[in-house]
Amino acid sequence: MGKDWNSSFELGNKEIDEQHKSLVDEVERLSDRIEKGDIDKTQILQSLNFLVNYAVEHFRSEELISKQYNYPNRNYHNSVHDEFKKKVGEVAEQYTNLNDEKKSLELAKDICHFLSQWLQNHIKGDDFLLFQFIKSVQNKKS
Ligand SMILES: [Fe+2]
Ligand SMILES: [Fe+2]
Repeated sequence: MGKDWNSSFELGNKEIDEQHKSLVDEVERLSDRIEKGDIDKTQILQSLNFLVNYAVEHFRSEELISKQYNYPNRNYHNSVHDEFKKKVGEVAEQYTNLNDEKKSLELAKDICHFLSQWLQNHIKGDDFLLFQFIKSVQNKKS
C-alpha cells in the first residue's frame, strides 16, 4: 500500500475503491521514480499512457454506476471526467514534444503533481458525493 492512499478514500464500492487505489498508487510510484531519477522519458510516457487508459476505464465504470442509479448530477460528473481526459491528453502531448531534458523532468514532476492532486480532490469531492447518493438510495431500498 502506498503512502498516499488511506481509508479516507474508500467510498464503499469495492470495484471503484480498488480502481482508485490503483490510480493513486501508480501516480505515487511514478512520482517516486521521477524524484529518484530512476526513470527515462520512454518509461514516463509508458506510465502516463497506462494511467490515462486506466483512468478512462475507471471513468467508464463510474459513469455506468451513476447511470444505473440515475444520479442527478450525472452530466456534471461526466463532464468533469471529460475535462480531465482532455487536459491529460494535452499535457501528455506537450511532454512528448518537449526535447529539453531538464525541462522534461520539470514538466514530468508538474504532471505527477497535477495528477495526484486532481485524483485525490476528485475522489474526496465529486466521487464521494456520487457514492453518498448511491448509499442513500440503497438505504431506502433496504
Ligand atoms: Fe473516480
Ligand atoms: Fe469520478
